[in-house]
Amino acid sequence: MRTPFVAGNWKMNKTIAETRELVFKLSMKLRDIHGVEKVLCPPFMSLMAASALLEGAGIGLGAQNMHWEEKGAFTGEVSPVMVKELCKYVILGHSERRAYFNETDDIVNRKLISAQTFDLTPIVCVGETLEQYESKLTREVVSRQTSQSLRDVSPAFAQRIVVAYEPVWAIGTGKASNGLEANAVVKDVIRPALAKLFGDETAQAIRVLYGGSVTSANASEFFGQPDIDGALVGGASLKIDEFVAITQAAVI
Ligand code: 13P
Repeated sequence: MRTPFVAGNWKMNKTIAETRELVFKLSMKLRDIHGVEKVLCPPFMSLMAASALLEGAGIGLGAQNMHWEEKGAFTGEVSPVMVKELCKYVILGHSERRAYFNETDDIVNRKLISAQTFDLTPIVCVGETLEQYESKLTREVVSRQTSQSLRDVSPAFAQRIVVAYEPVWAIGTGKASNGLEANAVVKDVIRPALAKLFGDETAQAIRVLYGGSVTSANASEFFGQPDIDGALVGGASLKIDEFVAITQAAVI
């Protein structure tokens, strides 16, 4: 039995003051929803403010990225030890990091190994671009991203990993995938790749989310799929009623 999981990726949105307001309002409503693991991922600058407000609310806090090294001369970067001071979770390998900041599977993998070392729960993103989708390369690309980004960690740690399948063409476009198509990628591509890395039992225990234009209107279509265990929500996670409704829809 996999516990449903819903995370809000705020991306580069909200100042500290705005974060306080949104986290306060969200936590008032989200704290009463049980049976789903809830996570908010505001920008680094806002994590401290969010952390103070979320104390005891049963809502997790995540960073959107981190460096793999513990410390050192890496100007502008944030280390896993620093993330760990405030967060339990960290998003790794989001397609925007892959596309705009040249993150490769190898870099994502280094960060994943670092998450294992520093005891963070990673949300690892995979997903094909529109061009790859149209060229029918989805399976090949997602399989490769999964096996290369998630290699070389222990099966015990692997159980904690959350994978997010986010087709790039569905992100921020209002053009979500559909339940059946997304479920097929998770079932036929992601779980088999996980099984090859960690064995069948662990592959079945790992939560796999869908992400890409999730709204309160389409969330149930994804959550109703047997291999989809929740959502990584972008735009709709900034709207209180939307994110609360999506979280509620994830409760089995
Ligand atoms: P949207 O929900 O805005 O499409 O973003 C999805 C996403 O990238 C979450 O990480």
